[in-house]
Amino acid sequence: MPRIIRAQTAAHSKAETPVATVNTPIKTVHQTNRRHSEGTHILIRNNRFSRNETAMHAVPSPFDEMPFLWGSAIAAYQCEGAWNEGGKGLSEWDYFNAIDWMNVNGVDARVASDFYHRFEEDLDLIAEGGQNALRLSLSWSRILPGGTGRANEEGLSFYDRVIDGCLERNIEPNVVLLHYDLPYPIALKGGWGNTSIADAFGDYARICFERFGDRVRLWSTLDEPQFYSYNANIAGVYPPCRKADVHSYLQWQYNEMLASAKAVAIYHEMNLPGAIGVVHNDSLIEVATGTNNPAEVYTAADFFNNRMILCPALEGRLPPELDEMLEKLGTFLYRVPDEAEAFAAGKGDYLNLNVYARRYVTDWNNSPTSAKVDSVGGGATMEGQAVAPLYETLVDPSVPHNQWGREILPRIMHDSLMDIKERYGNPIVLTENGHGSLETPDDSGYVEDDDRIEIIGAFLKSLSEARNEGSNVRGYYIWSAMDLYSWVNGYKKRYGLVRVDFDHDLIRIPKKSWAWYRDFISRDAARRADA
Ligand code: BG6
Repeated sequence: MPRIIRAQTAAHSKAETPVATVNTPIKTVHQTNRRHSEGTHILIRNNRFSRNETAMHAVPSPFDEMPFLWGSAIAAYQCEGAWNEGGKGLSEWDYFNAIDWMNVNGVDARVASDFYHRFEEDLDLIAEGGQNALRLSLSWSRILPGGTGRANEEGLSFYDRVIDGCLERNIEPNVVLLHYDLPYPIALKGGWGNTSIADAFGDYARICFERFGDRVRLWSTLDEPQFYSYNANIAGVYPPCRKADVHSYLQWQYNEMLASAKAVAIYHEMNLPGAIGVVHNDSLIEVATGTNNPAEVYTAADFFNNRMILCPALEGRLPPELDEMLEKLGTFLYRVPDEAEAFAAGKGDYLNLNVYARRYVTDWNNSPTSAKVDSVGGGATMEGQAVAPLYETLVDPSVPHNQWGREILPRIMHDSLMDIKERYGNPIVLTENGHGSLETPDDSGYVEDDDRIEIIGAFLKSLSEARNEGSNVRGYYIWSAMDLYSWVNGYKKRYGLVRVDFDHDLIRIPKKSWAWYRDFISRDAARRADA
């Protein structure tokens, strides 16, 4: 069994943690046995950078008035379809998918799951499935067809109907302002590479808050700014498909978080009765034993994957290690003069965390910067990355992988939540977790997705452990409410609790997992009521 080196988890008390100051090298590496799957682990006390303890923004927490949120998630471009209806403008993905040689699976989301026309049916299935929450995103191009300027009333009123439809069914809407589908006119101006996007995003955010802020209590600025930038600038599978471009990768994240900060500041100025944050993904870093420089590898991988997002989002500042890391990576950023004030004003109220996999890393072994992703499926390629000259990922042979080469390791749910609690401390909503799979329905269209039930069940057990150990997690959403367009993976990779028959009039058929999740939610409610 391989041993791994981990960041501190709640299993280890704060008393063991050495006092940390910025620029104090990490020296302490402890070895311990853990009850989880792989056996022996080594813990790194990762306190090189002190936590920024400044008070959170003083807003009334809407969570105090909410039950635990059990829901599912969707995103505008992946499910709405109606790509040119209702006054919608062109998004970057509409454009990109029309370029044959870029579109590896040969499909697009012009129709997708047709949520635009069938959202009432989808909301019914969410409510009948016992769920009390839905995470969805708004399409910037539907609301502002030109990216900036005049808002499109038809687009706004579509989202009025969706939000009201949620509330009528006692479904708490959790709204993301942007989930990858940038308006094409903004992409034409350099998109996330251009710092002025922050102002355009702020203007768009203000329109959404003014229109929906009376009814929506949970907001996110951006979905997965790190993963979005990674796919666009390192893996090269999302537009504009740059490969191993570390400068753009980091510049995007800087600009994304500047835009996010602007939206958060506007939201707080408006004094609305809700909370706002960002969605981040897959934050857990684990370092393989045998690694020569575990502390350095950990710090580098944490910076590269997490810190450009989590420090602005939860601490209102850029990572203290930014300059040092830029120098090591041999790159630089274009920075705005008032960045300290902008990031300080843009600190969020909570974190939305998506948990699918961890980052399992070791020393850099002279490979050029690169990413391995599998957009077709079949299991031949394992996900991974090399970041010269800092670290590389490893394939852990003891951990099963899905058909797209991604680890299936449910105990990371607990470890990710406790890691965030220890290091950042804010309330968390677990906004995505799920299982992508190739599925074959029976003759009636029913899918017995026992693999999804087993895997999500194990993740939920791990979530429950974290809740019992004091993680401030306030909700959990399965990706996804129904089958939808899985970006470059197309439609064969299914995540939904409800099957969408893309070949036969987009008929909805709840899968076995839909009923299983409904029963799980009701059992959890009964258990907690008895406790
Ligand atoms: C998340 C995204 O990272 O993972 C979703 O927020 C995405 O948009 C989901 O669909 C699953 O990823 P993929 O690439 O398998 O569709």
